[in-house]
Order: sequence, then structure tokens, then C-alpha cells
Amino acid sequence: MSAFETLIYEKDAHIAYVTLNRAEALNAYNIKMRDDLYEVLRAIKDDPEVRVAIFKGAGEKAFCAGADLSEFLSAPSPVMARRVRFGRDVWSLFLSLPQPLIAAVHGYVLGSGIEIALYCDIRIASEDAKFGLPEVGLGIIPAAGGTQTLPRAIGMARSLEMLLANRWLSSEEAYSSGLVNQVVPKNKLLETAEEMAKKIASFNPKVVRKAKQAVVRGLDLSLSEGLELERRLFSDLRECGKEQGK
Ligand code: COA
Repeated sequence: MSAFETLIYEKDAHIAYVTLNRAEALNAYNIKMRDDLYEVLRAIKDDPEVRVAIFKGAGEKAFCAGADLSEFLSAPSPVMARRVRFGRDVWSLFLSLPQPLIAAVHGYVLGSGIEIALYCDIRIASEDAKFGLPEVGLGIIPAAGGTQTLPRAIGMARSLEMLLANRWLSSEEAYSSGLVNQVVPKNKLLETAEEMAKKIASFNPKVVRKAKQAVVRGLDLSLSEGLELERRLFSDLRECGKEQGK
């Protein structure tokens, strides 16, 4: 069902599965993966059958070991420019997806790997997961939102320690920091993500989308604006319910 070079895209009933599929390079994120991810995210966004999506990594060792160093650090400037353009598109597309997204991560979760996981709404890690942001040591800073999304998840002090001192977190530390929702044995990772996805998919998808919207959009608002947003979304659903009752 997948026509992509760097990803596997599958659908089972209302659940979509996106597998980063460059196991030989620890699923490092290259330009082709960025292009493929863009296509897949568009497909998910426009598919009313998809109620929830799970993101995972192929192979035993990694969810994603970050940007493909061989490509990005030696890329000529037009390629870099293209990368920046695609980066912006892919990351804002991620944010615009109305369906809940679950990251099921294992092994190395570095650089763009953390950043992809942070665009997901719920993160489940296996016990062997290791989280790091090695960019500063490579002479760059994260470019897929990590400087903004990580502090929103785990706070400023921990984020700065990870970013500035290349401090990696174990799965337990990621759990206690609030970076991941659950830590499970590796052989239970997909099963746990699927159980959660099925639960979400069993609820009214309109309600689920509004609930996600209220939280995700609300976080960028003041409390009073957020409460107004919640009121609006709540009454949208009531109107929708009334129309369906006609
Ligand atoms: N880009 C491109 N290739 C990568 C990669 C990356 N970010 N991370 C790993 N790979 C490749 C390795 O080059 C190696 O390829 P090879 O078998 O053809 O030599 C293969 O994946 C396996 O990696 P290896 O380094 O042998 O595994 P390891 O278990 O010894 O070490 C890491 C794992 C993650 C510690 C190590 O690969 C690493 O430090 N990777 C770079 C992490 C990084 O800095 N990412 C960029 C963030 S911006």
C-alpha cells in the first residue's frame, strides 16, 4: 500500500501507520524522507477515514537518528534552500493535522526524531529509547521546531540542558520530564500504541478533533482567549448535533 522510498504508509480501518523506513541509516531524516512525509501528511489530513495516526521507526535500533548528516552537512546551498522550504511546509502541515497523532518510539530518538515525536500528540516510548538533541555540537541548531516544541513539553531548564550540553535522556527520564506519556517493554510498543489508537478511533471523530483543537490551539492563547475558543468549539459541536438530529 506504500509507494514511498523512505516511508511505509499503511491504513487499517480508521488507523493510519507511518513507518520511517531507512533502517540502514537509523531512519535518518533526509530530503527524500521530507518529501515523502509531506505527501503522507497531506494524504492523512485529507482522508476522512483516518481517525488517528501512529508514527514509528523501522528496524531494531532507532526511531530516527536525526537529520541525515551525510546529506545535510555537505549540501550545496540550493539544496539547503530547498530543505528550508520543505522544512517549513512539512512542520506546519504536521501542526495542521486535525487527527490525533501517536508517536511510538524506540532506540535512538535524536534531533529531527525528537522533533517529529513532538509534533505528535501522544508519545509512547519503549524502555530502550534514548532522547537527544546533538545539533549544537554539530555547529547547527534544531530546525524542525525543537527549540519551541521541546520547552513546551518539558520546560525551559531541561530543554536547555539537552540542547546546550547535549544531555541525553533515558526513557525513564523522558517519562519523568513529561516528554513521553508511557514507557513500555519494547515488544509491547506497537501493541500499546494500537490499543490507544483503537480507543481514540472508537469515539466520535468530530468530537475528538474538536478536543484536540481546543488543547493544541489553546496552548498558544491567553487563558481568556483559550476559554473563548473552548466555548466556540463546544457550541460548534452542539450546533452540529442539532443539525444531525433534524
Ligand atoms: N545520518 C546519516 N547516517 C546515519 C545517521 C545520521 N544522522 N545516524 C546513523 N547513521 C548511519 C551510520 O552512518 C551507519 O551507517 P553505516 O552502517 O553505513 O556505517 C548506520 O547508520 C548505523 O549507525 P552506527 O553509527 O554504526 O550505529 P551506532 O549504534 O554505533 O551509533 C548513534 C548510533 C546514533 C550514536 C550514531 O549513529 C550517531 O551518533 N549518529 C548521528 C546522530 C546525530 O548526530 N544526528 C544528527 C542530529 S541533528
